[in-house]
Parts: sequence; C-alpha cells; structure tokens
Amino acid sequence: MCGIVGYIGKKQAAPILLEGLKKLEYRGYDSAGIAVRGEQGIEVVKTPGRLSNLVEKTAGGALLKGTVGIGHTRWATHGGPSECNAHPHCSADGAVTVVHNGILENFRELKEKLKKSGYEFGSETDTEVIAALIGYYYSKCGDPLRAISRFMRRARGAYALAVLFRDFKDEIFISRKDSPMIVGVGEGEMFIASDVPAILNHTRTVYYVDNLEMARLCADGVVFYHADGEVTEKEPVTVDMDPSAAEKDGWEHFMIKEIHEQPRAVSETFHRYVQGGKIDFSEAGVEEDILKPSHIVIVGCGSAYHVGAVLQYVIEELARIPVRVELASEFRYRNFIFEENTLVVAVSQSGETADTLAAVREAKAHGVKTLAIVNVQGSSIAREADYTLFTVAGAEIAVATTKAYSAQLIVGYLLALEFARLNGKMGEKEYASALAEIDSLPEKMKKILDSKAEYQKFAAEHLGVHDVFMIGRGVDYAVCMEGALKLKEVSYVHTEAYAAGELKHGTISLIEEGTLVVGVLSRDSIAEKTASNLEEVVSRGANVVSLVREGCSAQHSQPGTVWTVPSVAECFAASLLVLPLQLLSYYVSVQLGHDVDKPRNLAKSVTVE
Ligand code: F6R
Repeated sequence: MCGIVGYIGKKQAAPILLEGLKKLEYRGYDSAGIAVRGEQGIEVVKTPGRLSNLVEKTAGGALLKGTVGIGHTRWATHGGPSECNAHPHCSADGAVTVVHNGILENFRELKEKLKKSGYEFGSETDTEVIAALIGYYYSKCGDPLRAISRFMRRARGAYALAVLFRDFKDEIFISRKDSPMIVGVGEGEMFIASDVPAILNHTRTVYYVDNLEMARLCADGVVFYHADGEVTEKEPVTVDMDPSAAEKDGWEHFMIKEIHEQPRAVSETFHRYVQGGKIDFSEAGVEEDILKPSHIVIVGCGSAYHVGAVLQYVIEELARIPVRVELASEFRYRNFIFEENTLVVAVSQSGETADTLAAVREAKAHGVKTLAIVNVQGSSIAREADYTLFTVAGAEIAVATTKAYSAQLIVGYLLALEFARLNGKMGEKEYASALAEIDSLPEKMKKILDSKAEYQKFAAEHLGVHDVFMIGRGVDYAVCMEGALKLKEVSYVHTEAYAAGELKHGTISLIEEGTLVVGVLSRDSIAEKTASNLEEVVSRGANVVSLVREGCSAQHSQPGTVWTVPSVAECFAASLLVLPLQLLSYYVSVQLGHDVDKPRNLAKSVTVE
C-alpha cells in the first residue's frame, strides 16, 4: 500500500529517499513526499501524482541538502490524493514530522479532542492527527520515545511510523503495529523501509521491527524498545532477495516478466520441499501429527483465496479430509465454529495482508494450529503462524499476482499429498506418480508461454468486449475465479466467474449478442456438462472460448475458439489452465493502454481493512 523509506548517514539523503520510493512504486500510491533535515531545519516537499513529479520538484533530490530524511508514497485513505494530504505531516509547532502507513481507526475521536484544545488541522488525514498527538505528548515530556509510547497507548488501528523530532537532529524514530517496517544496516549509515526492495541496493542486513515495537536510529546503530519503553535485544538477518527481481530485465512490464517466471518459481518451490522422491517440510518444523488434521480451513484474500478454492478440491479428492475455504475478511469476524483437530492454512504472498494476519491470530486465540504459505520472508504472517512454508516465487512486483499464485498452488499440492499419505488414502505408487505430475508442470507451462501470440491476437480481436463470464465446475470453477479477477483488475473489463451449473439460475439473462464466455473444461467426468452450458450461451448470442486440458473428453467437440493446455493429472490442471487467462488479461490491459503493473485503485499489499 503506502511506502516508507528513511536514511541517516553521511550521504545526501534526498536522492536515496527518492530511489527507495521508486522501488516501492509497485505497491500503489497516488502522492509522494519527503522530509530532509537541512541547516535551516526540517524541509518538507510533497506532490500529488507520480513520483516523477517529486523528482522534478526537488531536481532529483539535489535541492534538499541534508543527511537525515524520511520519505513516503501515499495511497489515499483519509482525504483525496492532494499535495496537502500527502505525507510527511508536521505538528503545528513543527516539532514533529511524521510519515505513516496504515489507518488510525480512532482518528476522529482524537482529532475532536485536539480541536477542542485549540489545535487546527490543515489536512483531512489521520496522519496529521498522529503528528499532532505525538507533538502534544512531546510538548509535555520532552522525550521522543515517551511521546511515541503514549501515542501507541492511545492509538487504535494499524501503523508504521517514521518520525523526525526537530530537537533531535541526528536521529530517526520509528514504531509499528500491524504494518511492516524494517531497519537496514550499512557502514556508518542506517535505513528504514516498509519493504525490503526499497533498500536492497544499499544493504542486505536488516532487522525486522516487531509488532508494538519502537526504535531509535542514528548513523551508527539502532536501539529497539517495547512500546512500554523497555529495551529489547534482536539480531539482524541477511535477506537473500535478488535485487534484479525489482528490475524489468528487458521485459516491457513486470506482469509479463513474472508470468514467464512461473516455470522457475514452480520448479524452485517444488525442489525446496521435495528431495529424493520424498516431501520434506522439516525445515519449517512441520511434524507428522500437524499433517493429520480432521478438518482444514484455508483462509486468504483475493488470489490467495482462489488458491484455497483450488486446494479445497485437491485436498478433499486426494486426502478425503473436509476442507472449508474462507475469505479472511469474513472469517475473522464470524465467530467461527472450530471442529476438534482443525488446521488453519493461511495463504498470502506478502505475508502482510491485514485480514489474513487477523485470521491467523483469531485461529491461534482459539488454540487452533496455523500453517502459513507465504512468499515474503520475515513478514508478519510468516512470523506469527505456528508453521510457515515459503514459496520460492522471488519478489513479485506487478500488483496483479501471477507467479506467487502458481507457487502457492505447488506448496498446496505437496500438502495435499502429505495429508493423503498420512490419512492412508495414497499408496507409494500413487504418491510417486503424483509427484512426477507436479514435477512435469514447469515444462508444460513453458509450452503454453511459447504460444502466447495466440492469446495476444485473441485479445486484439476482442478489445471492445464489455462483459465476460468464465464458467466451469470443480477445480475449473476455481480457475475461473482467478481468471476473472485477473482480467477485471488489470483490464477494467467487467468479468464474472460462475459455477457453470449455476448460470441458469438467473445470470444467463445477462448473456446477449457479443458477450464473451470462457468455459474451462479439464475434468472428464463433468466436461460434457460444462460443454452443454456453453452451447446454451452460444444459442443466446455469446462468443465462446473453450479452455481445455489436452486429452480431456471434451477436447474435440467445442463450439467457438478452443485453447488447449498440455495433458496433466486432473488434480493439478489448475496450474496450467490459469496461464492462458493470465496472458489474456495482460494483453487486453496493455492493448487498452492501461498501466498493467499498477492498475487503478489497487495496492500490492493490503495492510488495512
Ligand atoms: C490479485 C491480487 C490480490 C492478492 C490479495 C492477497 O492479483 O494480487 O487479490 O492476492 O490482495 O494478497 P496476499 O497474497 O499478499 O495476502
């Protein structure tokens, strides 16, 4: 969502802040600003719109002299994306300057109280309330940490804060609750960031700031504190993220680069956990009794939820253990009835999605074991879940997920196999052949990617389409859910996923001349039924595409355009079927002239509710 960067050292801060903010652009934002401590005090420059506006206004940072600074890209929540609402925000007396990620939920109440005591606000933001409140406490105690600590006691909601105090020239103060923040360690210089890519060009040695923690940084080091002011000890870690992941490497967009990285992501994720024909989750401390649940609940948001939708079918089919898939945002508030011996599986690329994190906490509060499938090391969900299995997708920069989705499926399949083996539902031979099928996916994915021109051409021919339906049954329906989300989020074309058998119960009235219907057919036992549903929409004027698994009984008798993916065991077909839909979405978006890597209104990591 929003992004934070900070620098303290001997170099000019502003260019470093701008470079870091550039690396965070992919998270989504609509205004940006920096504050640098110069000889005349703290200077703040902000602009609405693209970061390039800020770069221009500061001559690439050259106009702001000073070696201490904080920067921010804002994704508007309270108040529109204007210069006035952009961060940093200062307290009225200028003593405190703040950038903030997250949402201060009780900001209205706090704002009213401050107003009653005569405080005047210049923006509509919750962040200005934070600056004002910390400023108020600071004016009473003169101690930055005590002021932040008192703020933390009053605040409700999520925040990662970076604060400059006018009277503490060579220090930056930070604190966080439910919104990520890291500290990077350099030689005689320190960095802060909301996300690793922002500082990867400078250091790989980082501290992960814990929830409800504060820190005080100078050029030579950092001290961490609990929210109550007590010093805490922690060790830095070395991050192994490849800095080139945040570069386009000659590709036109991150999304198409990441679509092409899927065979590698799938292969590396598979080989992380499969050696010598055996699945081994011991690096995550996952022991056999964890893999013998009586019930499984999978939680996630957006595409991660769609991974759960696929895995529900796969796990139930292979392991015969009942699975429920829950939207994390619903699950967290519904007073869920946990059956005995339930395992909650949380799926998240970022590991920071507020609702998924809350779902993990909710399960743990009920004494239920939690296992996370996460891409970002050191993220909140990875640290809070009882067990974490990492996907090896690498940094995902495009807002619309592709390679993380595919890598999550692989971990899910391996879990399904282990559940099945330990539940006595899969013999050695079936187990080995299922592993071989999963291992064959990367080569088959490459074949689909080789025929991308087909999807590009189709996209060009159907740019005028207003309504798209994607229909299927079982796993095919779960693939439709992901395909529909992809198409609508990057191309802004209205698209709905429908369980094929449900269409007749109302929605078919929307089918008219020119509606595009994509049918997904990979399962022999039910493909014919979806095929009949396609015939029904054809006779009502729809243009139809059939996306078929090679060898599926439905392969040869489809109306309209037929797209085929290589043959694979039905259970794992989702990994191939999703690729044409990703490519279609990408090409429609690009040909319509949209910003495919940063679709409007979206953010990469949704750290607020
Ligand atoms: C869609 C997309 C989102 C995310 C969702 C969850 O392309 O990327 O729907 O899947 O916001 O994010 P994570 O996986 O980070 O929890």
